[in-house]
Amino acid sequence: MPTLIKNGTIVTASDTIRADVLIEGEQVALIGRGLPEAGATVIDASGKLLLPGGIDVHTHLELPFGGTLSSDDFFTGQRAAAFGGTTSHIDFVIQPIGGSLKAGIDDWHSKATGKAAIDYGFHIAITDLRDEVMAELPSVVDEGITSLKLFMAYKGVFQVDDTTLFRAMQVAEKHGLLVMVHAENGDVIAELTTKLLAQGKTEPKYHAVAHPAMAEAEATGRAVALAGISGASLYVVHMTCEESLEQLALGRAKGFRVMGESCTQYLYVFESDLARPGFEGAKFVCSPPVRQPKDAPILWKALADGTLQAISTDHCPFWYAGGVDGRIPGKELGMAGFHKIPNGMPGIEDRMGVMWHGGVNGGHYSPNRFVEITATNPAKIFGLYPRKGTIAPGSDADILIWDPAQIHTISADTHHMNTDYNVYEGMTVRGWPQKVFLRGRLIVDGDTWLGERGSGQFLRRRPFGEVL
Ligand code: URP
Ligand code: ZN
Ligand code: ZN
Repeated sequence: MPTLIKNGTIVTASDTIRADVLIEGEQVALIGRGLPEAGATVIDASGKLLLPGGIDVHTHLELPFGGTLSSDDFFTGQRAAAFGGTTSHIDFVIQPIGGSLKAGIDDWHSKATGKAAIDYGFHIAITDLRDEVMAELPSVVDEGITSLKLFMAYKGVFQVDDTTLFRAMQVAEKHGLLVMVHAENGDVIAELTTKLLAQGKTEPKYHAVAHPAMAEAEATGRAVALAGISGASLYVVHMTCEESLEQLALGRAKGFRVMGESCTQYLYVFESDLARPGFEGAKFVCSPPVRQPKDAPILWKALADGTLQAISTDHCPFWYAGGVDGRIPGKELGMAGFHKIPNGMPGIEDRMGVMWHGGVNGGHYSPNRFVEITATNPAKIFGLYPRKGTIAPGSDADILIWDPAQIHTISADTHHMNTDYNVYEGMTVRGWPQKVFLRGRLIVDGDTWLGERGSGQFLRRRPFGEVL
């Protein structure tokens, strides 16, 4: 039976219009005033906004890291995402060390199949770009995977050298792949880490000392320059600070095809959190690290003025108290040294709420820009638009009935992510999804989960830059 959402205000990246939305099957069929109710399930959205479902293009579900796994699987992480208004995400397949890209992709499909509860795509993260893997690279496009991530950090584990990065960019440019980089100078970080540990500086707060802002800026500038030389399109993930934004802005001013995202935690969590008493700072260890409060207004501005194109989470949760009560190990793995703390934080559930609250209520940007950075740009950049990322006839009916007046207090006691802490613990936001539709199906109604394990679809994405 069709669904008719009446009396809401549709907010897209470009428009704000009072109109009804008729959903037939999985897509939006019609948008208009006073659409007939006959034969439809009618939902009254008076006083509410209708937003496209959020798209989080940077997540790590069940990621093997530092001797453990991130603690959300494709069901728990995706259900949590849906509760917060995210209906699609893109996760990073990790190429097994010494293995093929295909082996990694198969592995990730097996993690997701049967569990997925929202729609999802994959990027491929390269760990070892030997010649045969370079030759395999173009084939990932046929698998619907049109972006690859290279790490300029994590020396001895994921880090690639400049030759590899530059070669990958050239191949990517030729085959419609978007290059993503984790931009930090891994050699500098390794040196600083060794020095700090030798001085007995092992606590979580030293993680930030070992990962200076200029190490991020240097790597960002290098990646931007290599993109300019190779002609590749580049997307710099998890940007944290003024120094690296300057490098991105320089590349954009030169006309290079370079883009960037930040992640929610960099707007709300700071170096002082890494210095919380005892081992608590470990909760906030991620790479690049959280920075100074002075960086937050610069990031908000960059999100507002288009220096940055998207906001994601880098959702990579670990238990704070892992290894007990049947839990897999977590942050406690790094008790003896910050370098052993699994890197990452939870956030997939909170992104839409904290970005609405801080960004729209906080006066940094309009509701339309909120939609643009949380859904439309992610869909456009990653080959999903206009199926995803907007509300329009023919688009998937991924729709949030968003209550801009709803007060929601974030807490690990009530969140749905599979971890024992929340980075935004106690934060009260105004604006939260009241109902969440995925391809026309109501999957979240207030606090009630109506979705289905296994019903999420793999999103085959179009090559980067393909003209519609
Ligand atoms: O700390 C982080 N960011 N963990 C996830 C892996 C990555 O570098 O994105
Ligand atoms: Zn990264
Ligand atoms: Zn990440």
